[in-house]
Amino acid sequence: MSVTSKVKTTFFCQNCGAQASKWVGKCGSCGEWNTYVEEIIQKDTKNSRLQVFSSNKNGNAKSNTSILLNEVGTAEYPRIAVPGKELARVLGGGIVPGSLVLFGGEPGIGKSTLMLQLALRLKNLKVLYVSGEESEQQIKMRADRIGYTTNTCFILQETNTQNIFQQIAQIQPQLVVIDSIQTIHTSYIESSPGSVSQVRECAAEFLRFAKETNTPVFMIGHITKEGSLAGPKVLEHMVDTVLQFEGDRNHIYRLLRCTKNRFGSTNEMGIYEMNGDGLREVLNPSEILITDRDVPTSGVAIAATLEGNRPMLIETQALVSSAAYGTPQRSSTGFDLRRLSMLLAVLEKRCGFKLGIKDVFINIAGGIRVEDPGIDLALLCAVLSSNEDIPIPQSVCFSGEVGLTGEIRPVNKIEQRVSEAEKLGFKKIIISSHNLKGLHKKTFTIEIVAASKIEEVFSLIFS
Ligand code: TYD
Ligand code: MG
Repeated sequence: MSVTSKVKTTFFCQNCGAQASKWVGKCGSCGEWNTYVEEIIQKDTKNSRLQVFSSNKNGNAKSNTSILLNEVGTAEYPRIAVPGKELARVLGGGIVPGSLVLFGGEPGIGKSTLMLQLALRLKNLKVLYVSGEESEQQIKMRADRIGYTTNTCFILQETNTQNIFQQIAQIQPQLVVIDSIQTIHTSYIESSPGSVSQVRECAAEFLRFAKETNTPVFMIGHITKEGSLAGPKVLEHMVDTVLQFEGDRNHIYRLLRCTKNRFGSTNEMGIYEMNGDGLREVLNPSEILITDRDVPTSGVAIAATLEGNRPMLIETQALVSSAAYGTPQRSSTGFDLRRLSMLLAVLEKRCGFKLGIKDVFINIAGGIRVEDPGIDLALLCAVLSSNEDIPIPQSVCFSGEVGLTGEIRPVNKIEQRVSEAEKLGFKKIIISSHNLKGLHKKTFTIEIVAASKIEEVFSLIFS
């Protein structure tokens, strides 16, 4: 038997990308069961894959010499301006040349739409949109639906990286979009598209391309329903930026988050609305997320939250009812269920509300998931309001984190929250007394009420 005919295979965990030389039932690194799949990884080392785009004649990657940190020039490449404030802010001010961006999200959430919209709106930039999922006609139909026209956007329906790089060499695009990384394959590896080794190898090729030609590359990656990034997870350490598109497909709002960014902060968030003609930016989320009611309703409280640098007033809703069955139910949309259980335990233990025998349902308006702990106080007030069946006045809003002892803890950037509440016409905001320090009360016309315990808030609103 000749040595060259031997096929080399390795087992990969499809969840986290760990490798093993033989099959194992439970993954040692992520703990998942039955995730190991055998993949063929025999490489063709004769042809270097760098030849297509490397300036280096013999196909080897450029070799670098070390340099003193102090001598490194600070001349930054200017970022590519992004049309659309939301994406620009989430990216940290624009697209960095030569950056590799992974754009993840569940199927059908609107990733292709957002990327096509970006490609079409970058009018002064030659963009290559590579699709391994849809035909040119389908993309054209989508572009017509979105309604932007441009003559600098090229469409390529292709799944093989070698062919993609050939087209890139021909067109010389200034931005490349890959839709999606799970459909792309390289001929240097024999496993099927979407498998861990393929995804990783293809991404490595695009990474090399991005860094050597200074061209930014956006790669779309699908996330499975359970939220695990099968495939894309193994790419997170490779790429410069990880963007995530989330939201409830039954709602029209979509959140764009950045979970990793080598060129900016990761706590910025963008909001989009999915319409019949594409994604529209939501620049005034507070005005949309609060329902105007003629009569105050119990179980509703408004939270003054902050995502990144952006203050947002959000409606929290609670429904407390006697448990129909033995075990009370707790259900929550847009809020962490374990945190809800903790907050209910605080109410029970510190304030004496017997919620242990009640069903509690929580809903954050608009299907939006909030990560800011400043929403706690509003949520608890909504629960209490529903429990007592007393409405909270519509002109009142809340901002505070609740601790295990029932104390109201301070939140960051309180001034921004207060001024947003004032801008939207609220008359009173309840905050933590620790937040009073450094807050210039006189500059606001809104009444600022400070409380240090959850019981105080209760008597403030319900008595
Ligand atoms: P898509 O971008 O294909 O999602 P992904 O690439 O993340 O899988 O978007 C799919 C959904 O968006 C689809 O269900 C239809 C809807 N949609 C609109 O509501 N309006 C539009 O203008 C477009 C283009 C799509
Ligand atoms: Mg798509």
